Amino acid sequence: MALTAINPTHTTAWKKLTEHFEATKNTSMQELFKKDASRAATFHIQWNDFLVDYSKNRIDATTLKLLVELAEECKLKEAIASYFDGDAINKTENRAVLHTALRSTKNDTVLVDGVNVLPEIYAVKESIKTFTNDVVSGAKKGFTGKAFTDVVNIGIGGSDLGPAMVVESLQFYKNHLNVHFVSNVDGDHVNEVIKKINPETTLFVIVSKTFTTQETLSNAETIREWFLKSASQEDVAKHFVAVSTNIQKVTEFGINPNNIFPMWDWVGGRFSLWSAVGLSISLAVGFDNFDALLNGAHEMDTHFKSADFSENIPVVLALLSIWYNNFYGAESEALIPYTQYLQKLAPYLQQGIMESNGKSVGRDGKVVNYQTGTIIWGEPGTNSQHAFFQLIHQGTKLIPTDFIGYVKPLYGNKDHHDKLMSNFFAQTEALLNGKTEAQVRAEFEKQNITGDKADFLLPFKVFEGNKPTNTILIDKLTPKSLGSLIALYEHKIFVQGVIWNIFSYDQWGVELGKQLANSILEEIETKTVKPHDASTTFLLKHFLKNN
Ligand code: F6P
Repeated sequence: MALTAINPTHTTAWKKLTEHFEATKNTSMQELFKKDASRAATFHIQWNDFLVDYSKNRIDATTLKLLVELAEECKLKEAIASYFDGDAINKTENRAVLHTALRSTKNDTVLVDGVNVLPEIYAVKESIKTFTNDVVSGAKKGFTGKAFTDVVNIGIGGSDLGPAMVVESLQFYKNHLNVHFVSNVDGDHVNEVIKKINPETTLFVIVSKTFTTQETLSNAETIREWFLKSASQEDVAKHFVAVSTNIQKVTEFGINPNNIFPMWDWVGGRFSLWSAVGLSISLAVGFDNFDALLNGAHEMDTHFKSADFSENIPVVLALLSIWYNNFYGAESEALIPYTQYLQKLAPYLQQGIMESNGKSVGRDGKVVNYQTGTIIWGEPGTNSQHAFFQLIHQGTKLIPTDFIGYVKPLYGNKDHHDKLMSNFFAQTEALLNGKTEAQVRAEFEKQNITGDKADFLLPFKVFEGNKPTNTILIDKLTPKSLGSLIALYEHKIFVQGVIWNIFSYDQWGVELGKQLANSILEEIETKTVKPHDASTTFLLKHFLKNN
């Protein structure tokens, strides 16, 4: 069944939410906490080793009730069933959206065009396992008989960001293999990686769902050329493998068919790390850890499918985000992990969130008359505190922020972890409470600041507070908990897309730039500037004259 097309702003719940917003928008969170000392007990969800406290939001019980009504009126329950059942919910490409099947259990049944895809998924998982074990153990060798020491993942977008983020995040669990990522068509990027590797001991994983992506093919060709300076054509088979849906193009590129790990068109690039696209993850941390990552995601899938909306982590976080985006007019959301390991989480989710929900045409084919996808950004704490937190605390923009932290550190360094986490808790408290005039005056008294000086400084030192945050506190960063965390955000994206009545799984907007780049490349190569707008012509002429 396709997703229904319901304009959310035409629902009864939206009307009620609009009235509710008008009635409550001037009530601060500080007042809400004063009125109800048990807010945290009410507005939190405990699931597995996750504690999600969303009490520091501008909501009361009615807000949550109305937001849940909105989800119900937009037929979210039915949409979730269609998503997991493999219906072609990516209607503009006539495809199912089944990254969830990749982490299903072996005995599940997920039908695509009447065929259960689980046996195929498990066959590929088996080949990932065998290949990983052979490379990690050293059984598989390079063209001079040496074991592999390095792996280079060549891909871009979903074929790079997911594996790169997970390999970085799970560094603690890594084996001896050095894993590198080449994505940008900028030749300097590939050359910097080439500098670090030895052709005899490096394995190249070319990842491209379509195998037509300019950046990936250019990088793969450059690397193959470099490799062939030391090795022969037959050696390519020992060092190059590919992950793709496009078997023909991969074979044309010269990759041995036995070295192709297939994927499927019902896996979107930005949700593909659970497939063979995650081969570099498996190589970096071992197959068992890769499998644990998938299991963590599967457990989140089960929670998302079965929990009541008001107890459902992805649903609640999606609804809160809609509350700020569509009623408070917040344009962006920050994501602050309090672990350096997750430094690539925000860039990864930028693709997931913005490529999915950056749409302005509804599922009814009409331009929407309300806001959709949020801007997502972030950096780990505490670094970000010393960079952009000032704007979140005292700027003019409302920036709802997710704080992600862990109860236990990985190396057991208690002193550092206690300091890190004291900052984690302090920031959400400061964002909630701010600092009142009375508190500032009391501080001035202690510091002997009086008179005109005190009056002058006062407005700058007062913090309004009332800044919304969600706290996601997880026991420990493990492959499994990371899998659950990523799946949480994937489902949040889905819920928002359903309610905003958009198609979240295509990305036509990215295609235009690719087409134009191809024709401009021809002009640059032939040094003939064709008609463009005046600015582009001017710039191209300058470039051609000087390059
Ligand atoms: O940027 C657009 C996009 O199609 C992404 O959705 C995708 O992840 C990326 O390009 C790479 O595509 P491919 O895996 O086909 O090379």
